[in-house]
Amino acid sequence: MKFTVLSLFPEILQAYFESSIMAKAIERGIVDVELVNIRDFAADRHRTCDDAPYGGGPGMVMKAEPLAAALDSVVSEVVNTGGRRTVFPTPSGRLFTQQVAQRLAVEEHLVLICGRYEGIDQRIIDLYVDEELSIGDYVLSSGEIASLAIIDAVYRLVDGVIRGESLIEESHSAGLLEYPHYTRPEVFRGLKVPDVLLSGHHAEIERWRAERMREKTMAVRPDLLAESERTSD
Ligand code: ADE
Repeated sequence: MKFTVLSLFPEILQAYFESSIMAKAIERGIVDVELVNIRDFAADRHRTCDDAPYGGGPGMVMKAEPLAAALDSVVSEVVNTGGRRTVFPTPSGRLFTQQVAQRLAVEEHLVLICGRYEGIDQRIIDLYVDEELSIGDYVLSSGEIASLAIIDAVYRLVDGVIRGESLIEESHSAGLLEYPHYTRPEVFRGLKVPDVLLSGHHAEIERWRAERMREKTMAVRPDLLAESERTSD
């Protein structure tokens, strides 16, 4: 799977792609990453990428021309076999969830546009963007962190990146939050690992974990519990 990220500050993203599981996935050829500096596509002497909004109002808007030129360079270099989606992370998008991550993980090529300032010219959204996604009901100062959140949630679902069992049991994959984890030592600051986990009794461990998942979800995300019960009917 290939990720192309368009940004005014690609250096913010660079370190992430050079670290840990992502770096390994790239090295193994499962994931490919391309960072595009939008400013390289600004035509004027000052390499201007923003301008005041028509109609007035606070802040600046990212101009259409440099973004369009950057997007054209990406799109013309890659044959679109239908597996490409262009995503614009924005607080006014649809909510990005694990289900959306699963849907995007089967695409061949994701193009992400990182916004800055008040936003990007609407015509870029009209002409190039397949989906606008919000990573939550709060406003970040730029799209880089939201793009990384989306990329991180998506690439780890791509075949071969991490072991399948880790994905099956994690939070949200079954519509519930995950059970608690423990490792050595058996007692830490007076807190003991629950006996059932030391029992070696797999059916009981599974039952205990399922109960903890329900309990945790009920306590902190009752909305998820209602949804999981509705869809399992
Ligand atoms: N850009 C700024 N805030 C954002 C959010 N909550 N989700 C996605 N992109 C954003």
